[in-house]
Amino acid sequence: MFHYLGYQEAATRESRVGICDRALEARTNPFKTSSNLIRPSTLLSPKHRLPQKTMTAKQTALQELPADINRDRLPNHVAVIMDGNGRWAKRQGLPRIMGHRRGVDALKDLLRCCRDWGVQALTAYAFSTENWGRPLEEVEFLMTLFERVLRQELREMMQENVRIKFVGNLDALPSTLQNEIERSMLETQNNQGIRFTVATNYGGRQEILKACRAIAAQVQQGLVKPDEIDESLFERHLYTAGTCDPDLLIRTSGEMRISNFLLWQMAYSELYVTNTLWPDFDRHEFHQALMSYQQRDRRFGRV
Ligand code: FPP
Repeated sequence: MFHYLGYQEAATRESRVGICDRALEARTNPFKTSSNLIRPSTLLSPKHRLPQKTMTAKQTALQELPADINRDRLPNHVAVIMDGNGRWAKRQGLPRIMGHRRGVDALKDLLRCCRDWGVQALTAYAFSTENWGRPLEEVEFLMTLFERVLRQELREMMQENVRIKFVGNLDALPSTLQNEIERSMLETQNNQGIRFTVATNYGGRQEILKACRAIAAQVQQGLVKPDEIDESLFERHLYTAGTCDPDLLIRTSGEMRISNFLLWQMAYSELYVTNTLWPDFDRHEFHQALMSYQQRDRRFGRV
């Protein structure tokens, strides 16, 4: 189903980023002979190292909730649009997909930080219904990355009491990924710690249409009367049924859009946009976002 990415093996050269450089060559010189074909997913192997990510002293000091954050006014639910992976990689002279790999580290750290600081739910936009339009090798890389991360992190999520849920049209995902998703959701379903939702093949408009179709079918069968359709009935047909709406949406890389993410659920979310690219989003950045959130006057349409 997926393409293979060709590149010329430069076995003798051990550069700073190893295979990342060679894969970069492949993008400008693709589809070489079949003897040196490489699946983009092989760039996931631990031997293809990214430059080490180290915690700064400032970040290490942020293991605990910072003193200037009011514990009683924390957002219950934080949502993130993890934008800028491609640009981050480009700035490092790496193929775009390496930005996604580093993006996973940033997401893991944010999840842990939310847990450490007392945020109850985190939702991340991992793959939109529109992302299928990306180059095939990038789509394949992302699918393989999701699967690999799930397989590798499940044990730790259990230890850390994380309850993971996926939202979106999951039926369209590769079956091996669907299996990992199902396994991770089943195994963590009774965990009582942070609720971690991953939006994958997710589109807000599609979610609303899906709910409309389901309700229309109930009306047609005489199970629901049109005037019984209210917000609470509608919400029960969304992927996110049973979860509270995000209080805070963080978007990285400076773009000021919500890109078809949680359209219904974000009616009253506070928006925070930072120019930082997602792989560089760290505890210090999250601290800034929370400071900004706590200065907001949330009126929900009232005075
Ligand atoms: C947007 O950056 C990022 C994505 C489409 C993918 C985000 C996915 C991850 C960080 C992996 C998450 C993994 C799990 C298991 C949940 P971009 O590529 O649009 O960046 P650009 O705007 O600079 O091109």
